[in-house]
Formats: sequence, C-alpha cells, structure tokens
Amino acid sequence: MTDSLHSNPLREGLVSRATPAPCSVVIFGATGDLTHRKLVPALYNLAAGGDLSSGFAVIGFARREKSDETFRAELEEAARKYSRRSINDELWKNFQNAIFYHRSEFNDAEGYRSLRQRLDQIDRDRGTRGNRLFYLSAGPDQFEPILTRLREAGLNKTREGSWARVIVEKPFGTDLATAQHLNAVVHSSFDEAATFRIDHYLGKETAQNIMVLRFANALFEHLWNHRYIDHVQITAGEQLGVENRAGYYEGAGALRDMVQNHLLQLLCLIAMEPPTDLSADAVRDEKVKVLRSLRRIRGADVGQHVIRGQYSAGSINGQPVVGYREEKNVKPESQTETYVALRILVDNWRWADVPFYVRVGKRLPKGATEIGVHFKNAPAVLFNRDQEGLRDGSQNVLVIRIQPDEGVSLRMQSKVPGASVRIQPVKMDFSYGTSFGKASPEAYERLLLDAMLGDATLFARRDEVEEAWRFIDDIEEAWHGQKEKQPPLAFYSAGSWGPMEADQLIEADGHAWRRL
Ligand code: BG6
Repeated sequence: MTDSLHSNPLREGLVSRATPAPCSVVIFGATGDLTHRKLVPALYNLAAGGDLSSGFAVIGFARREKSDETFRAELEEAARKYSRRSINDELWKNFQNAIFYHRSEFNDAEGYRSLRQRLDQIDRDRGTRGNRLFYLSAGPDQFEPILTRLREAGLNKTREGSWARVIVEKPFGTDLATAQHLNAVVHSSFDEAATFRIDHYLGKETAQNIMVLRFANALFEHLWNHRYIDHVQITAGEQLGVENRAGYYEGAGALRDMVQNHLLQLLCLIAMEPPTDLSADAVRDEKVKVLRSLRRIRGADVGQHVIRGQYSAGSINGQPVVGYREEKNVKPESQTETYVALRILVDNWRWADVPFYVRVGKRLPKGATEIGVHFKNAPAVLFNRDQEGLRDGSQNVLVIRIQPDEGVSLRMQSKVPGASVRIQPVKMDFSYGTSFGKASPEAYERLLLDAMLGDATLFARRDEVEEAWRFIDDIEEAWHGQKEKQPPLAFYSAGSWGPMEADQLIEADGHAWRRL
C-alpha cells in the first residue's frame, strides 16, 4: 500500500471487519463456470487480503473423475485468468493446499457419507472446527437431491458450538410455486438463519452504498419522496449476448433472469423506508414491504406497462453479431425475451404516482448498470421559462453508477460563463476509484465473507423471493397465457438501446431514457 493511500482522509475511520471462524466451504457443481470465474477467485482474494481464518478449506463436489491435484491445477489456471488481484505464486501455493476434490453423483447417498468422513478428517488436519458452508452452484434441478442427501447424511447439522449453512445460487425457482417448493425443501434441511439465497447484485459495492447515501446524509432523505422526485430509471445493460447459456436462458428470459432478482432488489434499496436498525431482518422487512407495495401488472395492462424485446442481428463494437434466434441452441422461432422495459408503480405513501422505469437487456451498446433518480423540475419562472428540451425530471438527476466506473453524480443546471444568461447542465461527480484509491472487492468476495460470518443482510429472505415472484408471475402469465391476448415480442438490432416500443413506453409519460 502506498503512503497516499494511508493518508487518504476518506479511508480514515473505515472499520475493518471480524475475521470469520475457521470453516470448510463445500462447492456443489465445482467444475462449473461460476466456481472458476467467480467463487475460487473470490476465495483467493479473501485469503490474499487476510480476510480468512487460517483454518480454512474448499472442497469441490462434482461428478467428473478428478484428483485433488488436477482440480487445483484447473482452479489455478482460472484464478490467473479471472482474479481481481494478480496471483502471487507463494500465496497460491499455500491457498491450494486447502483445496480438495470430492467426486460423487449429486444423488448418491454414499457420496455424502464419504463427504462427511472427509470433512471430519479436514477438521482434524486443517482446524476447520466442524463449521461448514455448503454452496449450491450446481444446476437448479440438483438443488433438491443435494439438500435431501445432505440432511440424510446428517450434514445439515454439525457438532455443538459449530455451524452448518447453505448458500443457494440463483435461479431460486422459476415462478412462485417452484420457489415456494424450493423454500420448503431448503427449510426441511436448514433453518432460515442458516440459509443464504444469493443475489450477487447486493454484494456490489455501489448497491451497498445506496443505503449509506440515503440514510447517512441529511441532504437526500428530505427530498426522497413523491413531492420532489419525478421518476426513477434503473438500467442494466449488457453487451454480451446469450453466450453458451441458451439451455438455461431459453426457459428463463430477461424478466426471470434479471428483473425478478437483481433489478427488483435495486428498486427496493431505492424505495425502502429506513429500517429500525441494520440487522438483517430489519433491512429485509423494509424491502419486503416495498415488494408488497408494487402495483401488480396483470392481463391487458401488461402490454401497456411492459415491453419485451429480442435482439436481431446487428453489431457490437463494430463487429457483426447474430440475432438471438441464430444463437447456438436457441429455437429458430424462440419467443424468449432478451430485453424488458417496465413501468412500475410503488403504491405507498412515499412513492404515490412516481414511476420507476426499469430496463434490462443483452446486446445493448454498453455494459453498464445505473440508477437515475430524476427530481422534479424547478418552477418555470425566472430561468426555466424558455428552456427548450428540458423535460420533466431532467434538470436534477442523481445517478448511482453500479458498474462500471462505480460512483455517484449529480446533474444540475449552471450558467455558462459570459455576458448572456445561458443555462447548461453540469455534473458533480464522485468516483470510487479516485476517492478511495483502491479497487472495490468483487461482489462474491463480500457475500462469501458475510455467509461465513453468518450475516444475511445482503441475502434474500424467503418472503422476499416469494413476493418478487408474485409480481413477476402475473406478467409471465400474460405473456404465455392465451395466445390471442399475448402482447407481441418487439425486436431490436444488437448494438441498439432496445426496441422502439420501449422508448414509446417512457415517452408517453413525457420522459426519455437517460443516455448511458
Ligand atoms: C446473472 C444473469 O445473474 O447476472 C446473467 O444470469 C447476467 O444473465 C449476469 O449476465 C449479469 O451480472 P453482472 O454482475 O455482470 O452485471
């Protein structure tokens, strides 16, 4: 660390966190993409940052035949490619000694009995003290067999004074009924306090900052309501297409894949009331209230308030790319949406009649996620009378950039220097990189650490997931119900900002999507 970092006044007083208790992390689906790209790099970075106990082990559980050595070598290659910090050879050597591979079918009781013995042995060898964190990163169809077998092998409980917890990756169900079923299955093995439903958007640094911004500053909270806020825009754009995930994505679509979880979570953080304290339940109580207040969009209203789009051929960064229907393993007549724009109303006292416009899409011109809080315009007297092009809510916008270039900016009107009074928007900008002088940890680092510490604040609670599905199910029903009533799919060229219909959705209210 450089001196300038030591002397950065913004870093003073930052509280360092407790180190979690020693534990073993068992990853189901250990040969998959998530383990390689995210989980192991995150664990390595935690270890490198001194955030893990020395009593620590990672056990990869998967079906393929593999030795500990091969598994370690594969993970090393992945970590070198995907880790936020470059890999230090000495550190990696140490870290990899804590990695083991356990081969088994997910539904084979014997594999879990031997896992139990192995974990007991690891407790003795590595001082992991019987604490176990099970990470379900296998295909969702495997969640139930894994949870059942864990319980049958007695792995959902551990010895007195130790803990056993489970992290469940998304997708958490595909609708309300399947989410409720999965919740019941999880609950028959693990208590709610030991269950961590992951939503990696909540681990993103800027998402965590939303509550701080709102509740640690006197400035914003007074204005944070329907009297001063005109509307809110939440955008999550990706340049990537469906990649090699059509098998999953064809049955999911953007609404289930991104809105049900990530986008609604961001909306909750913007819309929630101040919690009574910062405990996991107090925070999540407030988020559930927001979800319950969402005005349901049903039947014929769906076509009015929700636009579903799909990318056709176009270009990204000057390179031609194929349309969604031409992607590998996608049906040529697929109706799956790769884009969705919604007008959402939160029917409570604070947000009466303030639209939340949410849009998300693949193959957009830019990979960027941001929230724009658009304040009502100043009265049209004095300066604003003849301002052309100043739409409602475009004078003052608080923009929270979730990624990339994490930060917050405030747009306001200013006089252009000179003898005449000309007004032009300017920007006050705070950027994490320059203010704090260090890279933010990856979302998975924070979330893994929290699960080890037993802090569920940044994880979705049972009722949160179910409420979000209730809202989504109505829309899915209109999309997939009676054929003649289905709102049509709108197409957009890859590399554009989505279908024209999405522009019309927001323009009908006198607004426009922010340019990212
Ligand atoms: C995942 C979705 O949850 O989030 C993906 O399944 C999406 O389709 C990804 O690409 C986006 O995450 P991030 O962190 O890159 O914005």
